Parts: sequence; C-alpha cells; structure tokens
Amino acid sequence: MGAGPGDAPYVDSALADKGKSVWAAECINCHGTQARGTDNGPNLTRSLVVLRDRYGSELGPFLKKGHKLQSGGSAAALTDDQVVNLAHFLRQRVNDSFRGSPLFQAQNVLTGDAKAGEAYYNGEGKCATCHSGDQFTDANQRLHAVSDVVSEPEAAGVPSYASRSATRTYRTSPLRGIWQHAPYFHNGSAATLEDVVSAYDKRKSLGLTAQQSGDLAQYLKSL
Ligand code: HEC
Ligand code: HEC
Repeated sequence: MGAGPGDAPYVDSALADKGKSVWAAECINCHGTQARGTDNGPNLTRSLVVLRDRYGSELGPFLKKGHKLQSGGSAAALTDDQVVNLAHFLRQRVNDSFRGSPLFQAQNVLTGDAKAGEAYYNGEGKCATCHSGDQFTDANQRLHAVSDVVSEPEAAGVPSYASRSATRTYRTSPLRGIWQHAPYFHNGSAATLEDVVSAYDKRKSLGLTAQQSGDLAQYLKSL
C-alpha cells in the first residue's frame, strides 16, 4: 500500500501533544526531538513501521514486542492510548518533514507554478506597476483613485470606503507575507488569494486561463 498524501492519516493535534510527552519521557534520547534520529536510534520519519501506521496499527505491535524505553522498562508496558498518542505525534513529524521535501514541492506544481506567476505579475499582469519594490507597494509615492481598485463598488447599500476616508483614495496594500492575512481587500471581499486573482481577472478583463490564475495565486502565496 502506498502512503501518499491523499490517504495520509488525520493528525489530532491534542493527541499529538500528549504523544509528545510520552516521546520526551521514553523515546527522545534515541530518536531525537523531531524523530529524525540520533546516534542511538534511526530516523523514524522514514521508518516503514511509522509510514504504514494507521493510529497505532503498526506501531502498537512493534512496541509490544518489547522495544527499549528510556526509563529502562519495556515498551510492551505502554497503554493503547499512549501508543495512539505516539502515533499522532509521529505522523505530525512525518508531515513536517514531508513539507520540506521535493515531493511536497512537486505537488505545488500541480496547483500553480510560482515562477510563471511571478513573470506574469511583473509583465503582462502589470501588478508590479503598483505592488512594487521591497514591500510590494508604491504607497510612499502615490495613492490610487477608486476607479483603480477592484474591491469597489462595495456590497449593495454600503457607501464607498474611499469616499469616507480623508484622502478619498486607496493606498496599495503591501504583499509581503500576504498568505497569512486572509480575508483580502479593505472590505474582506476576497476570502482567498485565488479569489483576489479572480477579482482582478474579472474587473481588469485579464483573460487568465485556469493555469495562469493558479500560477499567479501560487506566486502571491510565496511572497
Ligand atoms: C535506547 C534507545 C531507544 C529508545 C529509548 C527507543 N528506541 Fe526506537 N529504536 C532504537 C533503535 C536502535 C532502533 C533500530 C533497531 C530496532 O528496530 O530495534 C529503533 C527502532 C524503532 C522503530 C522501528 C524503525 C523501523 O522502521 O524498523 C520504531 C517505530 C521505534 N524505534 C519507535 C520508538 C518509540 C515510539 C520509542 C519510545 C516509546 C522508542 N522507539 C524508544 C532505539 C531506541
Ligand atoms: C493600480 C494599482 C494596482 C494594480 C495594478 C494592482 N493592484 Fe493590487 N491592490 C491595489 C490597491 C490600491 C489595493 C488595496 C485595495 C483594497 O484594500 O480594497 C490592492 C490590493 C491587493 C491585494 C489585497 C491585499 C490585502 O492586504 O488585502 C492583493 C493580494 C493584490 N492587490 C494583488 C494584486 C495583483 C495580483 C495584481 C496584478 C494582477 C494587482 N494587485 C494589481 C492596487 C493595485
């Protein structure tokens, strides 16, 4: 059976936290804080026992055979709950190491190619004419009229935000770390960066293909 991302077991972070305490008490000296191994024990994020495990299905029988514990006893003494908690903790470590791996990055290519998105952003898309420089904004040089902004008009009945502001204009939002700040635009009208791209596509008639939209969204996520 392949342990692909699609069928990866679910991680319950509360149980993983409990597993972490057992880990610290009984396993950490040999297998390391991140389960990536030490001189005294192997990297468990690559162990087939761990990768094939489903909530203790493989880990339980392995430990019950009497694996060593830091406290000197036998792992056969661990309760079923402790084994399940350890399984959640180890799955979390596997997922963490998977995130940094080329396999995980290859997955991103399926949803969008940040490099292609960057080229579009700086070229045809003209995003960099306003979102420019280090912080991806021209706010120190100029402000923008309401007609430049894709997040207006407001929802029915709501007066223009700019008309209520002192300058009656918009400043270009900086985009560094933007993936952390959903929802987007002053009125939160875009829930995701995909929605932002779709708003620009519609309002500025960019004519983006699905692939180009994905690429641009992927680039925004990388800022
Ligand atoms: C005293 C050091 C030591 C401690 C403590 C220890 N291990 Fe190990 N562990 C090893 C060594 C060495 C191996 C490789 C040889 C073997 O399989 O027994 C191993 C192997 C494993 C494997 C199998 C890896 C594979 O793919 O074959 C798992 C799973 C594992 N340990 C989990 C744990 C867990 C969970 C704990 C804590 C409850 C723990 N170990 C505590 C040293 C330790
Ligand atoms: C004419 C200047 C201008 C251009 C061109 C422009 N933007 Fe914007 N952008 C703005 C302004 C102004 C805002 C703030 C609007 C608001 O808050 O409602 C903004 C907001 C955003 C936001 C939301 C930021 C946040 O913190 O909520 C994103 C993401 C974004 N733009 C991406 C892009 C992309 C991608 C392009 C190219 C397709 C682009 N922008 C083109 C001026 C521009």
